[in-house]
Amino acid sequence: MAIPEDKVQEVRDRVDIVDLIGRYVELKRSGRNYVGRCPFHQEKTPSFNVNPALKGYKCFGCGVGGDAIRFVMEIEGKSFVETIRKLAEMYGVSLPASVGRGGTGPDRTERDDAYALMRAASDLYRDILRQGPEGEAGRAYLAKRGIHEEAAEAFALGYAPAPTEAGWDRLARALQDKGCSTALAQKLGLLRASERRGSVYDAFRGRLMFPVVQPGGEVIAFSGRVVPPHDQASDGQAPPKYVNSSESFLFHKGKTLFGLAVARPAIRGSGRAILVEGNVDVVSLHQRGLAETVAPLGTALTEDQARLLARFTSQVVMCFDGDAAGRKAAWSALPLLLDQDLDVRLVILPDGEDPDSLGQERFTNLLADARSALEVAMTRLAARAGGSPDARARALDRAMGLVRRVRRPSARSFYAESAAALFGVPLERLQRALQDDPRRSTGLSGPPMQPSATVRSLAPLPQAQAELTMLLVDVPHLATLAERHGASEVIDDPRLRRVVQAVIDGAKDGRLATMSELLEQAEPQDQPLLHEQVFAGKYRAGEDASSLDVDPQVELQTLLHRCREEALDSRVRQLDDEYRSARATGDVDRQRELQQQRIALRRQQADLRQAAPLPPST
Ligand code: UTP
Ligand code: MN
Repeated sequence: MAIPEDKVQEVRDRVDIVDLIGRYVELKRSGRNYVGRCPFHQEKTPSFNVNPALKGYKCFGCGVGGDAIRFVMEIEGKSFVETIRKLAEMYGVSLPASVGRGGTGPDRTERDDAYALMRAASDLYRDILRQGPEGEAGRAYLAKRGIHEEAAEAFALGYAPAPTEAGWDRLARALQDKGCSTALAQKLGLLRASERRGSVYDAFRGRLMFPVVQPGGEVIAFSGRVVPPHDQASDGQAPPKYVNSSESFLFHKGKTLFGLAVARPAIRGSGRAILVEGNVDVVSLHQRGLAETVAPLGTALTEDQARLLARFTSQVVMCFDGDAAGRKAAWSALPLLLDQDLDVRLVILPDGEDPDSLGQERFTNLLADARSALEVAMTRLAARAGGSPDARARALDRAMGLVRRVRRPSARSFYAESAAALFGVPLERLQRALQDDPRRSTGLSGPPMQPSATVRSLAPLPQAQAELTMLLVDVPHLATLAERHGASEVIDDPRLRRVVQAVIDGAKDGRLATMSELLEQAEPQDQPLLHEQVFAGKYRAGEDASSLDVDPQVELQTLLHRCREEALDSRVRQLDDEYRSARATGDVDRQRELQQQRIALRRQQADLRQAAPLPPST
């Protein structure tokens, strides 16, 4: 049944819009309004406004706006009815039974059922962990890891018993009793079907359960850590340490941070987020008073996760294990975090330790001493490059590639100073390279370039396209594959296009064009730029392999993807410019038209993000 209009109105009245939106965006007071960074588009300066008096929001950057209901619908992709139900529950409005959470009316959606099912499972696991013989192994493990009851409660930890403790279908039975759909539980990855026996059984067995909770409080997934004695191999195969519930319409691992719902207030309070690797680390730091801790769910940090963090804070302290995997995770997260204009710090843990295994005092000291992650990265790059000029140039290029991602010019120039000192090059050279075009030009390897008037007036190369071209120049056997994936279309900069075409033609003829032949494809005035940015040889096989372990095929997909993103971004910038002039001239129709286009573009950007290639496995 439809929701009565007066109930909708009551929900609208009762919602505290600052509280609601504050769960997704860090808001700062500004006069009578609140401002933050828009969660619907990427921006550096906050242009997202929340007006408590009007109970509305508006982004002056991308034009989105509306009331609380619209906000939830947009940000969580919920239907109108789902949204009303959620807000009614959050703000204590009672709805007629058929639209209520426990109801079974025809407008109940699969998503509602899924939330209810996840909640039921979470309650069961938590009850089992709290008391009774079925949860004994779970409690013993908590004790062994020193996790106290309060911390377990704060994260609603649970225990999924093993077959020897409660049979194969403990959850399956409980869900059936509650009238939850077995098919849905399978879809969400909580139950599995046994074809042989024509029945279902529990997916999580003998595991400490970490519910993954979204800011509104809904459980959307579980991460389960095996506990003794169930970690022993039974038929020659030890069970995996962690099992996560499957990706589903509720849960996308790469867009979720474990612990965020709990950490949110502390992140706001402390002005920083601590990023660790493991779920256990999150819980144990929380219990040591470091409640601002979150973890990606076993993935290399994704751009979406970085963006999510940036909604709540401007400082992130990465605190990764001291082993090779931990370091690798830190280095791959750094550029993504810098891109979000975050002040990124790094705590390097002693090798073999993780945050959880260190003593309280040592850990707090390490945190207090956290150095700028970028400083650490540059120091390492410089140290590792050794004395060879080539290697130093490449290391400096990589360092400056990171420096260039620092958004604030003041911070950027400090880093340039550090780089100059670390690599022993004149600061002016680095500054010039940064100034020519802070986000793009390299100007560092290759012969020092005289910034003649003509060269400086040239438009910078589109970054992703330049990198893709560089990849193809360095790894020409990828050319055919690249062409099949549309490389000739995505590279639309005429200067790069000629080079790429020559590589592709060469590959077709079965011969490799030499560097100078390729360079000759370009107009003379473009050659210096191409020489520096495309022929610098970042991917050339055999050299510097230790510092750049990329899989060329993965890199190809990533770069193709980035080129497409870049094209959309530049289209967005163009629209924004047009919008500003339309506003200046008061052309309302044009403004509306541009807003429509902007929305369509945002959708394309979202689709593209969905289609993002998986990050290379670590
Ligand atoms: P860790 O192995 O560091 O786990 O993996 P942990 O949570 O710190 O557990 P302890 O302290 O070793 O007992 C880090 C994260 O990677 C994911 C989990 O989210 C884990 O918290 N992971 C790990 C998986 O998804 N699958 C695995 O098999 C292992
Ligand atoms: Mn750990």
